[in-house]
Amino acid sequence: MPNENYDNIFSNLAEASASNLKEILITPDQKLHDALLAASRATALKQFGNKIYIRGLIEFTNYCKNDCYYCGIRCSNNKANRYRLNKEQILSCCANGYELGFRTFVLQGGEDPFFSDEVLADIIIAIKKNHPDCALTLSIGERSLESYEALFTAGADRYLLRHETANPTHYSLLHPETLSLANRLHCLKNLKEIGYQVGTGFMVGSPFQTTDNLIEDLLLINKFKPQMIGIGPFIPHHDTPFRDKNSGTLQQTLRLIAMLRLMLPKALIPATTALGTIDPCGREQGILAGANVVMPNLSPVMVRSKYSLYDNKICTGEEAAECINCLRTRLQKIGYEIVIDRGDYQK
Ligand code: 5AD
Ligand code: FES
Repeated sequence: MPNENYDNIFSNLAEASASNLKEILITPDQKLHDALLAASRATALKQFGNKIYIRGLIEFTNYCKNDCYYCGIRCSNNKANRYRLNKEQILSCCANGYELGFRTFVLQGGEDPFFSDEVLADIIIAIKKNHPDCALTLSIGERSLESYEALFTAGADRYLLRHETANPTHYSLLHPETLSLANRLHCLKNLKEIGYQVGTGFMVGSPFQTTDNLIEDLLLINKFKPQMIGIGPFIPHHDTPFRDKNSGTLQQTLRLIAMLRLMLPKALIPATTALGTIDPCGREQGILAGANVVMPNLSPVMVRSKYSLYDNKICTGEEAAECINCLRTRLQKIGYEIVIDRGDYQK
């Protein structure tokens, strides 16, 4: 690809052909890589300035009825030390987070049948009553349309549900037969129609993933137009069938963040914990590649290492206050500032 065409292509990435996307994704040309990240960073700066939104992550249950081959809290991992937070514990995480400047809370957990619509609605209503100025995000997997509606009515604003891979065959290599890409996409459609701000995304470098699969991921996201996009490297967990597989790479994750930022300039894109886990400066590099969100952990320190989706997860020994201050300093060093804001999607 001739140099002078970079800017033209980068500014029209949402319209680029699959073969152009592929060329950018796999280029060994370091100049093109650098130009891509620079263009993406400029796009994020134009959209959000040097402001970074924070989301307080509350990992409230590691029980899960599913058995995804990549995930450390899969139901057949009988070595996982299971826990559930109760309503009071969750409310106290939120109160703590509010004091620290968080205005979005993310309730994330495995697919845990204990948390029925009734139980969850009660918790959602209580959080919204205590913090009416905050946004509430759910990340609790596949549920029925009725369930999504009930939780939205209770006050949930946003929902994170990664599609994991846009290719049905690849999907079946990562998940048991009980799960399907078709149902995942059906859930995403329901969530959007109900009115949630929706996030989707995928793991970079997951086992059996091909370059063409990644192009399918980009095209699916470009078409679905989620408000949020979460991507991070796959990292093996020692008690899963994928224990011997390789992690996704920093470079490929950064390149994909940059491409997604250029395709969907307004999307809220986190520099994920997994990115910070494969490289000590992974989150900073994610921000410099066009991400604009970080999701520090607000879970009680007691449970953090138990919420183990992959090995060597960072921040499992730190207090919430330490994490937010650590991130604030890290981001200041690269010229960015954490803000006290719900950080809603701006149309
Ligand atoms: N490595 C990286 N990310 C993982 N996730 C689950 N297991 C792993 C792993 N081993 C991601 C999935 C899920 C999100 C909550 O965490 O993409 O959607
Ligand atoms: Fe948790 Fe740095 S963000 S310790």
